[in-house]
Amino acid sequence: MVKAVVAGAAGGIGQPLSLLLKLSPLVDELVLYDVVNTPGVAADLSHISSNAKVAGYLPADSGVKTAFKDADVIVIPAGVPRKPGMTRDDLFNINAGIVKGLIEAAAEVAPKAFILVISNPVNSTVPITAEVLRNKKIFNAQRVFGVTTLDIVRAETFVAEIAGKSTPQGLTVPVIGGHSGETIVPLFSQVTPKVTIPDDKYDALVHRVQFGGDEVVKAKDGLGSATLSMAYAGYRFTEKLLKAIKGAKGLVEPSYVYLPGIPGGKEIAEKVGVDFFSVPIELGPNGAEKAVDVLGDLTAKEKTLLEAAIKGLKGNIEKGVTFANQPPQQKL
Ligand code: NAD
Ligand code: LMR
Repeated sequence: MVKAVVAGAAGGIGQPLSLLLKLSPLVDELVLYDVVNTPGVAADLSHISSNAKVAGYLPADSGVKTAFKDADVIVIPAGVPRKPGMTRDDLFNINAGIVKGLIEAAAEVAPKAFILVISNPVNSTVPITAEVLRNKKIFNAQRVFGVTTLDIVRAETFVAEIAGKSTPQGLTVPVIGGHSGETIVPLFSQVTPKVTIPDDKYDALVHRVQFGGDEVVKAKDGLGSATLSMAYAGYRFTEKLLKAIKGAKGLVEPSYVYLPGIPGGKEIAEKVGVDFFSVPIELGPNGAEKAVDVLGDLTAKEKTLLEAAIKGLKGNIEKGVTFANQPPQQKL
């Protein structure tokens, strides 16, 4: 029996992600949690004749704890999205507290859940997640994932366009680092099957992968950021993880994780000089079974991108760790 929870389920990502999870044969119980509208979304989804049983909870009567209780997987797209002109870091002040609160609830009632963090800024909300769990002495790095799949999905799409490939999903494009602007490092030299990116298109392609989120924010013109492509990406990662938990082999997807807590990750963390970092992760029954080192064969341009990414990541990580460890605010 697999119980999957979506926290932020009534939102732009939450609703289509919940729909996809409701259609999945890998989910037996789908629980929707949000501060608004989950009874309606749950009632709506529950009429779909797929297997998963659906329930929705609001904060009243400790709804978050009832929702999270004994969950196997908790996917978190709760929090505010960007408007034009904002960076993901501008979301920190609101979303950091939201994620912290949700993780505290998860720690209490679902300490073994796999936690998939979508809420931005991912570069900081994942360190918050890890630190909250560490302070409660239940942190298992193999079970905490920052969802960066949308960067991979975008890279597949944009590379396929440039390389003239008709099946973007047939490409594997490693994207490492973090999830914001220059912290996103696409490794086009390691695309399989191999593709040739013309020199005069390389910089624009890197920029498009790094700033694809801004493209959507601008096009939505004040009405939020990527939701449908993110729901797809979030579902893709969740589905792979669920298959791996059930024993499927050979499933790999990049994710932003705490490297020192994952087999193979300590050496990568030493090389890059940060502990939270996205690399391809081999998934299995324990979650993140192995961090794959793709740093060996970088081109000179990729090395330059990586240096810039690490510089940006350091501050983002520190900010999350500090926030998680600050004493609770005094109520006046
Ligand atoms: P949205 O505003 O449409 O939905 C967010 C939902 O979260 C709302 O329904 C809101 O009520 C809910 N919420 C707020 N506080 C909550 C709490 N304490 N508990 C539970 N639910 C709560 O926003 P969206 O477009 O769905 O985006 C959600 C987040 O995902 C944003 O932070 C956005 O930046 C991020 N995002 C991340 C990626 C990624 O690649 N990781 C991609 C797109 C968006
Ligand atoms: C994205 O990459 O689309 C998300 O992180 C949302 C955003 O703010 O760009």
